[in-house]
Order: sequence, then structure tokens, then C-alpha cells
Amino acid sequence: MSDGAFGIHDDDLLDLETVYRDDLFRGRTVLVTGAGTGIGKAIAVLFGRLGARVALSSRSEEKLATTAALLERIGADYRVHPTNIREPEAIDALFADLEADAFLPDAVINNAGGQFPQASSELSDKGWRAVIDTNLNGTWTMMQRAARAWQRLERPGTIVNIIAPHLRGMYGVAHTIAARAGIDHLSRNLAVEWAPDRIRVNCVLPGPIDTEGMNVYPPEAQARMGRTNPMMRLGDVQDVAQACVYLVADSGKFITGETLVVDGGHQQWGDLWLAGKPSHFES
Ligand code: ADE
Repeated sequence: MSDGAFGIHDDDLLDLETVYRDDLFRGRTVLVTGAGTGIGKAIAVLFGRLGARVALSSRSEEKLATTAALLERIGADYRVHPTNIREPEAIDALFADLEADAFLPDAVINNAGGQFPQASSELSDKGWRAVIDTNLNGTWTMMQRAARAWQRLERPGTIVNIIAPHLRGMYGVAHTIAARAGIDHLSRNLAVEWAPDRIRVNCVLPGPIDTEGMNVYPPEAQARMGRTNPMMRLGDVQDVAQACVYLVADSGKFITGETLVVDGGHQQWGDLWLAGKPSHFES
């Protein structure tokens, strides 16, 4: 649910159009991190609508309950696993629990992450490290533990990492740009290293998407958000969720080490200022 100007109501998530057939993932299991809000919630709901068994993870049990309620309504098979991805032991426990429950995923969508806007010169060591620890280290550990399980069981697997618009940089969020660029290139590396094990690794890079997460940015940044790409609008959560489906499904079976950019053309044109546009850049 959204209390601000941005975001989609839970009820509406169930009605979003999809081009995919409703039994596409029957018999397959997908783990989604950061599944309690925004893009992660939409990804979890779409996989559930397409017949997947869905393991929901996030730090917040309370937020996961709202996604679980939606999966319940559509009759999807799901599990709820609150996990802090900054703690490697918690990720070990997550995979051990899923395996013991015969719910080990065929695909992992690493969507968990977070950042806060702050000028780089003002970032504290603690703030920098916190974002790197979640967005880079946490995602890495998730990938490694998934791959270890698949390798041990000689099962194929697919990873999709949700990253952020790091290609041209984003003013005021240096910590997340460093982490997301790290994941982008790490994914290319792992795609090569794990290809012999039938493990594919890709990224989805969304531009500004209409989620409740947008409500944390200052009003002047929010006012500009829909004019940051040549399409002059925000993307919606289904744009990102369907990109994940494309990569996980057989449509993506020859795709690995790729980053699918879902940004309305922002990487070609458009200003994105999460903390407002400094006067220096005004023409
Ligand atoms: N979402 C934001 N930070 C997270 C964390 N440390 N673990 C899991 N999900 C998160």
C-alpha cells in the first residue's frame, strides 16, 4: 500500500496486465528478496500468478505479510522467510530451510537493497559501509549460496539481480552506484564462471519506477521524476517484473551475463536528480 503520491495499491497489483501465460512456471520455485514492497512485491506476485511456487524474503516480516496475503488470494504456493542479507549466517539458514522444506528455488531474484540520498563528501563511513554491505555484499552472498546449492545438487539455476541506473551515475547516491556497478560486473564474471554448471546470471536495471520508495525523495526531486527519460513518464512495477520473467523463463535460456535496461531510454537522454538538481547544473 502507498500513503504518498507514488506507488500502486496492493489490490491493483493483482490486476496488472501480463503478456505471459498463467502456467508458465508450474512446478518451478522462485525466491524473491526484498519481496515486501515495491518492485520486489510486484515480482513475487507476477511469478505467483504465472504458477510459480514463491519464497518471499525481506528483513521485515510485517511487510512480507502483505505480499503473502496477495499470494494467498491468488492461491499460489508460497513460503515466508524474513532474512537480513547482511548476515551470511542468515543466508545460510535461508537456503538450508528452503532445501529442508523441498522449496529450494530454481531461480533467485535479488531485489533486496536500499540507499539514502546524501552528498558524497558528507557520507559517513558507517553510511557508506551499510549500503555496500547490503547492496553489494548481501547480493554477492545470496548468489554464492544459491550457486553452491545448485552445484552440490547438480541442478541448473538462474539468478536475476535488480540493480540501479549506474551507467551514467546518479548524483547524491555514490554508495549505491558503487555497489550496483559492482553487482553488474560481478554478474558478468559469474555468468562465465558458472555457465559450466548451467547457472545463468543476469541483471535488470530499472530507471525511475512508480513505487512507494519514491516518496522518500525531496519534493523537487519527485516533481522531476517523470521527466527523466525521452518517454517523459515513470515506468511501472510490471515493466520490471515482466523483464525478470523474460530472463528466467525459456525466453532467456541463451541469455547470461546480460543487463536488461528498463528505463524508458534514460541511459540515452534525461536528467535524474534524486536529491534535487543543484543550481550549478541549471542552464
Ligand atoms: N532490504 C533492505 N535492506 C535489507 C537487508 N539488509 N536484508 C534484506 N532485505 C533488505
